[in-house]
Amino acid sequence: MGRIAYVNGRYVHQAEAVVHIEDRGYQFADAVYEVWALFGGKLADPEGHFARLERSLSELRIPMPMTRAALTTVLRETVRRNRVREGLVYLQVSRGVAPRDHAFPAAHVAPAVVVTVSRVDRDATDARAAKGVSVVTTPENRWGRCDIKTVGLLPNALAKQKAREVGAVEAWFVDDLGLVTEGASSNAWIVDGDGILRTRDTNANILRGVTRLSLIDVAREAGLKVEERPFTPDEARAAKEAFITGAGSLVLPVVAVDGKPVGDGAPGPVALKLRRLYIERAKASAI
Ligand code: PDD
Repeated sequence: MGRIAYVNGRYVHQAEAVVHIEDRGYQFADAVYEVWALFGGKLADPEGHFARLERSLSELRIPMPMTRAALTTVLRETVRRNRVREGLVYLQVSRGVAPRDHAFPAAHVAPAVVVTVSRVDRDATDARAAKGVSVVTTPENRWGRCDIKTVGLLPNALAKQKAREVGAVEAWFVDDLGLVTEGASSNAWIVDGDGILRTRDTNANILRGVTRLSLIDVAREAGLKVEERPFTPDEARAAKEAFITGAGSLVLPVVAVDGKPVGDGAPGPVALKLRRLYIERAKASAI
């Protein structure tokens, strides 16, 4: 069975799914997206992702294409038709289709909606977590509104490619102050020498990661101290542990930054425990 996508009101075979060549998402990256992790066919962290979707759309003055309830039905139905239990759901909403003109279309256009589902091999990702991953750093070169989850991801794609070419899994952007902002598709964390969990604050130009927010809760419930305070790549290497969070990576230990080990170069107990606790909580609250 081939994969099924939802495209503007219809469920279609992905090989036959098409979007208009004048979709503003295609021409101007005038579109936002969300990614949900799927556990047992259910959407993890639903509230956080819907809230961020609504915020991203409202910052760009794109209307919600349908109610949350209707969107939930569409996401679930796309998952069901693909028969995926462990995976990811991708939703993209663009401003819609209009003759090419940078400013918004004068007349009302309906937002264009696409949903796809992909399978994740959780055994493989658990094995990756048990080994830990490497990251590389790269100068921050993105626009000033990384809090909006737009499909304008060229700097992220280039950074990820840079990482891949040296066998790393993620690239961390480093801003003009020499501080890590976040990863190309994840948030960045360390466990510092005092055992304090640190991740960049949301006043900085970063995406407000849904996994990040849940994990702050999970960590505090587990009695850990969390500070939204930046760190440098040197501080990451000198830290006890480092890790990344995101719908794709969940919680993934980082064992090297720019080819130099973090701590003793092996995944740390805090990151591995938080991974387990996060997954437990995500499964319990998935819808
Ligand atoms: N990326 N920072 C960036 C730049 C991201 O693209 C992502 C997610 C995150 C983590 O956010 P969350 O915890 O809400 O997934 C942080 C998704 C998974 C992607 O682009 O595929």
